[in-house]
Amino acid sequence: MLGFMSESRVSTGIDGLDPLIEGGFPRGSLVLLAGNPGTGKTIFGMQFLYRGAEDYGENGVYVSFAENEDTITHNISRLFGRDLRKKEEGNGKVKILDFTTVTEKGLSTVLEMILEEVTRLKAKRLVIDSFSAMAQAFKEPIEARIIIHNILGKLVRQLGCTTILIVEVPTGSEKIGASIEEFVADGVIVLRRDNYDGRLIREIEIPKLRGTKIEQQRFLFTLNRGFQVFLPFSNKKVENPKKFEPTRGTKTHYPSGIPEFDEILGGEGYPRGCSVLYELGENVPVDALDAVVNPTFANFIMRNRGVIVIPIIEYGPEDIRKMVSSFTGEEKFDEFARVMTFPNPLMDMNKPYIVVWQDPTVEDIDPIENFNRYIQAAVELSSRLGKNIVHLLSGDSLAYVVERFTSSVIGRSVIANRLGKDLMIYVSKPSIPEMTKVFADTLSIHFKIEERNGSMILYGKKPKTIIYNIEPDASRGCRVKLTPIV
Ligand SMILES: Nc1ncnc2c1ncn2[C@@H]1O[C@H](COP(=O)(O)OP(=O)(O)OP(=O)(O)O)[C@@H](O)[C@H]1O
Ligand SMILES: [Mg+2]
Repeated sequence: MLGFMSESRVSTGIDGLDPLIEGGFPRGSLVLLAGNPGTGKTIFGMQFLYRGAEDYGENGVYVSFAENEDTITHNISRLFGRDLRKKEEGNGKVKILDFTTVTEKGLSTVLEMILEEVTRLKAKRLVIDSFSAMAQAFKEPIEARIIIHNILGKLVRQLGCTTILIVEVPTGSEKIGASIEEFVADGVIVLRRDNYDGRLIREIEIPKLRGTKIEQQRFLFTLNRGFQVFLPFSNKKVENPKKFEPTRGTKTHYPSGIPEFDEILGGEGYPRGCSVLYELGENVPVDALDAVVNPTFANFIMRNRGVIVIPIIEYGPEDIRKMVSSFTGEEKFDEFARVMTFPNPLMDMNKPYIVVWQDPTVEDIDPIENFNRYIQAAVELSSRLGKNIVHLLSGDSLAYVVERFTSSVIGRSVIANRLGKDLMIYVSKPSIPEMTKVFADTLSIHFKIEERNGSMILYGKKPKTIIYNIEPDASRGCRVKLTPIV
């Protein structure tokens, strides 16, 4: 089945990109795609052509000056996970013009061949990989460029063939070549690979696209199973969420409730008796943490295990209940979950899932008393159910409730849990740097959630992992998708 595309726009075929640029490239535009080696230019170009052919029935021409046809189709087939040499009936065609041994042919011959092929196929898409290699392949580079500009310009506009010119930017150079900047392109896309805390991260920038309002210029992307751009994180409320199906645990591990996260954790989830830190960076909304921990709570509850939560300061028990019961139902939540909270005269405290702190600003109590209230509630919950439970301890609330929440208290909790075999999840924020340091030094598993270009990324400090993008996904029971950035 062919997809829908507006007359004036050409779908880029890049997952996530079209909605960011009003539906696609303007039809018949000339787009520069620039980047250092290995940034994904060839993958972008090939995906543009293959998706165009398969999803929209548009023929495409790929002009290669760097890699030969076999290498290209082999690599791209591997990336997309299927053999692109096998053609399906009714789809458009992608013709690869191999000019890797171009020197014998003159420039005019090459351009003629491209023009001929585009005309013969009535191609709607053209990729030249790369313009840099093309310009270098001929004896007189400056003259060659002028000709290329003119002829390509005509080709694109007269035949309505949307064209991507790939431009190689040497490593270490931030600038697109000076001659290229003079080039009147309708759009410019820059691909980058960067180092983030010792890990690979990829970024796409769209500094210019004719006739298109671009609200944000930079986004993260991955080359995992093709080129995919990540939209900024937003945790939209889900109307009719898919049913959450719990995962059965093992003798040694608790499932996280998110299949791919269990893999990241080594295959089976969190080791029993472990204490985990989630360190939230600047500008990280709590939603991003919720996306990762709520499926874990749900998984515990659906396996008839207990959950006890010391929420972050901005959340009350009702918020936790609303989120988690959307996975489990309210009845199960009320039976298996306990949430610590301050007494509030405006709220009905007489709920099965509420455990009340004493207010240190009102009552003259030893802060550690309050911590003991939580311990007591946790012990009651797990002995009533006869099973291990999961704890969420937010550092900001601990700092407030238990003023003397020191490294020795954390140390004792970690040691006690090694024997008790619960799952303890600690959360830290930028507002509590000292406590974050103590958590990070003491806890055996340490994940960070950071914001970049509006996307939320997750990665392990201990154990060290690559970076994953966190994305809400209503179509899945766990309602979150973690995609590796590779
Ligand atoms: N199957 C795959 N899965 C994930 N990533 C892959 C796969 N195949 C290649 N890559 C990644 O894609 C990158 C290369 O992509 P691509 O060939 O599109 O880059 P490029 O910008 O065209 O590079 P160059 O300038 O050298 O031609 C590599 O860095 C590699 O890490
Ligand atoms: Mg390439």
